[in-house]
Amino acid sequence: MEIRKTTLAMVSAAALMLATSTASAAGKVEVIHWWTSGGEAAALNVLKKNLEKQGIGWMDGAVAGGGGDQARTVVKARVAAGNPPTTMQQLGFAILDFADGGFLANLNDLAAKEGWDKVVPNALKRFMKPDGVWVAAPVNVHTTNWVWANKAIFDKLGIAQPTNWDEFVAAADKIKAAGITPIAWGGQAWQEATVVDALVNSTGGTDFYKKAFVDMDQAALSSKTMVEVFQRLRKLKSYVDPNYPNRDWNLATAMVINGEAAMQMMGDWAKGEFIAAKKVPNKDFLCFRFPGTAGSVTFNSDAFAMFKVGDDAKGNQAALASAIMEPGFQAAFNIVKGSAPARMDVSGKDFDACGQKAIKQLAEAANADKMMGSMAHGHAVPEAVKGAIYDVVTNYFSSDQSAEEAVKKLAEAVALAQ
Ligand code: BGC
Repeated sequence: MEIRKTTLAMVSAAALMLATSTASAAGKVEVIHWWTSGGEAAALNVLKKNLEKQGIGWMDGAVAGGGGDQARTVVKARVAAGNPPTTMQQLGFAILDFADGGFLANLNDLAAKEGWDKVVPNALKRFMKPDGVWVAAPVNVHTTNWVWANKAIFDKLGIAQPTNWDEFVAAADKIKAAGITPIAWGGQAWQEATVVDALVNSTGGTDFYKKAFVDMDQAALSSKTMVEVFQRLRKLKSYVDPNYPNRDWNLATAMVINGEAAMQMMGDWAKGEFIAAKKVPNKDFLCFRFPGTAGSVTFNSDAFAMFKVGDDAKGNQAALASAIMEPGFQAAFNIVKGSAPARMDVSGKDFDACGQKAIKQLAEAANADKMMGSMAHGHAVPEAVKGAIYDVVTNYFSSDQSAEEAVKKLAEAVALAQ
């Protein structure tokens, strides 16, 4: 499969032979992840406690850095050195890279025993079960085309939830005129790419998104519509405070929570921060789809990819995978995390208003063929292409480059990275 060609596959066979983890022996699982914000850590704690109840110890491998770029770098080095962890939180195409390299365990027996095939949707199976082998256990489905808003600011200024770009601009202008920062922006490549996912979907519609960010179609990538996407991105910059560069996503969420800014455009892990701060949907904060994207979602699923481990560690690894797939856990975890369950048979009844909205809209989008992998979060294009798009977006946002020039660079960069 050409698209899954990977540098990891080139790691020597010697490293592969060594690649049986010893860290996970002796009653512990070593879990590498990037869930270090308040909401993320609270969600992860649900999993830790489940395992503790079974007498399985937890070796925590937190690598800070939203979106996971830093964590992936650490794990690639560990794998190349023949010392993988038991598991790592992984996204989409990155799982396929490790699978292609031959580094992941075969979970088929467990999956068959527990009936994973029947409950995990195909959009996820594509990444969890490449070439018919279960290599990862999906814990959730995040959707990324959201706006999180401070309700008191919206109420005070008499602003209704904007449903299209023009309404959004009118709302942001009003907020700015009132002396409040309209958008809490985290100036990191993955966060800016998250907003671009939504802008591509909103400006061009779902077919355009699929052409540009799934098919990597040159005509779409270099189109007038894409120029408009970048013009809109430039417009968003006029609503951002000067301290945006390198701001972490959860600090941006905190600005909305504290009323320093009115809105954040971010995936629904942001909700985890509101919940951790004891804020209530529709009372303290609002969640609505990025203007112009109602009816569709861009998604990413956090999964725990299981590495090949020695025989002594296989039992604990299977127990971890089983705990992740357990329906009660999927509800408890995702209520805290802000995401929807990865299993389709988990009831949404205990989720808050935003969580119920997420679950309902995800199902509706899937039925309407409007559930699309998030480019920014590794579910639309191979890792190298994603990285190339990140660079173009972030260079543009932090400079005075014209939208036309950025679009030229985008088309070139995607062609080169494929
Ligand atoms: C992950 C989320 C995580 C977010 C911020 C995303 O890529 O899917 O689970 O909360 O990054 O770190």
